[in-house]
This record gives sequence, structure tokens and C-alpha cells, in this order.
Amino acid sequence: MAVARTSPPARKVAREQIAISLPTRWLHVQGVGAQAEQIAPAFGGDGEDLIAACWLHDIGYAPALAHTGFHPLDGARFLRAEGWPERICGLVAHHSFADLEAELRGVEGLDEFENEDSAVRDAVWYCDMTTGPSGERVDVHQRLDEIVARYGPADVVSQFISRARSELVAAVERTERRLRAAV
Ligand SMILES: [Fe+2]
Repeated sequence: MAVARTSPPARKVAREQIAISLPTRWLHVQGVGAQAEQIAPAFGGDGEDLIAACWLHDIGYAPALAHTGFHPLDGARFLRAEGWPERICGLVAHHSFADLEAELRGVEGLDEFENEDSAVRDAVWYCDMTTGPSGERVDVHQRLDEIVARYGPADVVSQFISRARSELVAAVERTERRLRAAV
């Protein structure tokens, strides 16, 4: 069944899947979703997709959906099965440079989903990379340093961050420029 492209259903689905099972993750997701809602007007007709993708970006962490254990892929596959628009599935699958982390982990399957190179894609990364684990607004460098501290330097996540940092920061900076220009 097709789901309407509006943020309320995205928020509802995210809450259903994450709020009880992963309350801390839910705090982060709420911060990312709220930030998307705040900046969406700068993205015109794409604002709705930005909001939906942000509410849904970490849904693959939900224990019930974690089939491969790689949350961008598990989330995107769940959303496709639920009839969400392909664009939303693609934005979730590839969020925050998931492709590089998949490569480091030897995970295949992300290419089942379109990887768009756009201002909206950058903005999804921006919202994720400037929201901390408890939903608070943070600087992108703070965010990346916190992830490395949380996982420890030997973890594949930290290796990913060290290789992905410049791409992630660049997406954040492009979005900041777009937001300044839209004022
Ligand atoms: Fe996230």
C-alpha cells in the first residue's frame, strides 16, 4: 500500500519502530526530524522528502528490522516493502556516506537503491551530522569526535569516520551555504 509523502506518517512509523525498543536512538531521531522540519522551507518542493527521510533515516536500527545488521540497508528495504517512495528509500539507504561504511564492512546491497547527488541528500546528512545522540544540536566536528569516542578508535565505525570525515563535513558546509542563501 502506498504511503502518503507527508512527514506525519514518517514520524509515526519511526516512533512505532524505535521509541520503545531504542529510546536513546529515538531522542536522536526526534532531533534530526525536528531539524529537517525547521530547514525544509529552504528546499521548496523537496522539503517534504527531506523531512520524511530524516524521520526514517535510522529506522533500520529497530531490532525487528535488523536483518543484515547494517541499518541503512535494513531501513531502506523495510521502507520499500512498506511502499514508501523510492526516493525516500534511496535517501535512507545512502545517508551519511553509508556506502563507505558498507564497503568497510563488506556489506552488499545498497546499490539496490538510487544514490542521488543533490541538495536534499546533503541536507539529510547535515541534519544527521549536526544532531547528537540525545537529539541536541552539535557542530559536525563535535558529532564526529563523539562517535569515535563512543565506539573506540579500533572499531570499524571509527575507521569509517576517519575516512568519511571530509565528505561528511563538505555536505554539511554545502547545506549551511544553501541555508544562508535562502534567508
Ligand atoms: Fe542518525
